[in-house]
Amino acid sequence: MPKDSLTITDNRTNKVYEVPITDGTIRGIDLRQIRVSDDDFGLMSYDPAFINTASCRSSVTFIDGDNGILRYRGYPIEQLAEQATYLEVAYLLIHGELPTASQLEQWNSEVAQHTFVHENVKSFMSGFRYDAHPMGMFVGSVGALSTFYPEAKDVLNPEVRRSHMIRLIAKMPTIAAWSYRHSVGMPFVYPDFALSYAANFLTMLKRGSSPNYTPPPEAVRALDVLFILHADHEQNCSTNVMRSIGSSQADPYCALAGAAAALYGPLHGGANEAVLRMLREIGSLANVPGFIKEVKEGTGGRLMGFGHRVYKNYDPRAKVIKRLADQVFEVTGKKNPLLQVALELEKIALSDDYFVKRKLYPNVDFYSGLIYEALGIPVDMFPVMFAIPRTSGWLAQWEEMLADKEQKIARPRQIYTGYDERPFVPMNKR
Ligand code: CMC
Repeated sequence: MPKDSLTITDNRTNKVYEVPITDGTIRGIDLRQIRVSDDDFGLMSYDPAFINTASCRSSVTFIDGDNGILRYRGYPIEQLAEQATYLEVAYLLIHGELPTASQLEQWNSEVAQHTFVHENVKSFMSGFRYDAHPMGMFVGSVGALSTFYPEAKDVLNPEVRRSHMIRLIAKMPTIAAWSYRHSVGMPFVYPDFALSYAANFLTMLKRGSSPNYTPPPEAVRALDVLFILHADHEQNCSTNVMRSIGSSQADPYCALAGAAAALYGPLHGGANEAVLRMLREIGSLANVPGFIKEVKEGTGGRLMGFGHRVYKNYDPRAKVIKRLADQVFEVTGKKNPLLQVALELEKIALSDDYFVKRKLYPNVDFYSGLIYEALGIPVDMFPVMFAIPRTSGWLAQWEEMLADKEQKIARPRQIYTGYDERPFVPMNKR
């Protein structure tokens, strides 16, 4: 009769242990009973970068990396991208169910009402250096919001949590747009309640001398779809940071600033910026084979926008984005010549043994930058564009973590590799 357990023989002691298997997983702590002596700490598992460790149970997002599947709360990403709005998806991520019409109306209006930030935020954002990177300003400003909402520290109170989740989702576009405006020396534009989430953001980003600026509806919809595609991605690097900081019961502004900082790196949310810089460096179709050769030889860096820890197949988000790119270029009339370079890179990489053997496929960042560029959003803003929608995912995961009775403060173990005890050496003896 098969049993859901694992039998382990410790060859050091010849002792045999039986460890239960639940959901295809053994509990790390069950290894602790395996000892060679009474004073032995017990067996640990070593897993740098959490390659094979589940840190939580989660019902937010499902990914099947081998088959290129992504679902939020059970709904396929392709269907959400086609039929939902970003705020509807944010509601779904946080509450677990799609909103009814009246729930959505109330949610949209609650978010719209909180898009304004305290006037002091404006003054400290003006204090950043003239050439500050928008993502640095974004991370700093989100962290600083913690000082405006001391009551947000009451993270065990569900009502308090909800009110600050709404504030965070609402204020991210404002802070993001103002980070950009500051970096180009333009006055800040206040939010407009009457506009949709994406239209309000584009307006705060782009309104010039005319107060009547309205972003084209196609640009608004394209941005909303990009927001949906970036809203959550289970236990990625920045979400792990959100949960980790949140596990110490820090307020959500501090936790989210930390998560956004993790997102900034070029191996994570900074990849879309790195892709655009890479495409510009390659410059033309003629240089593509040479660049691929350098990547394979390890002299040209990585092919940015390719590869993923979880997807060993085409990233389903990249498929939607590729289609979206065609629609946006049609509307904006701005066929980006770098698209040809990207398509050629993809074609070669998908048929090249190096990439095929390692299962490296385009990820979400490979084409998103080209769309942002067509929408007139500068490269420096790309990681910020990722952080705006990921806010709802971070918050959904944070909320889930705080409600999870099994979670405690995140605190991994280590294998100590340093010196054994040694006596202090006085300065004159070193
Ligand atoms: N170009 C060339 N080779 C690559 C690439 C790439 N983009 N990605 C992985 N490899 C190679 C790597 O050199 C290694 O080869 P070998 O086995 O010979 O040493 C093998 O593939 C496995 O790579 P890895 O670094 O062990 O894989 P990982 O799971 O640790 O890294 C990754 C995942 C996304 C960090 C990596 O694929 C990468 O650096 N990609 C480029 C950056 C990028 O596009 N990041 C955005 C990720 S999607 C958005 C997000 O979720 O943030």
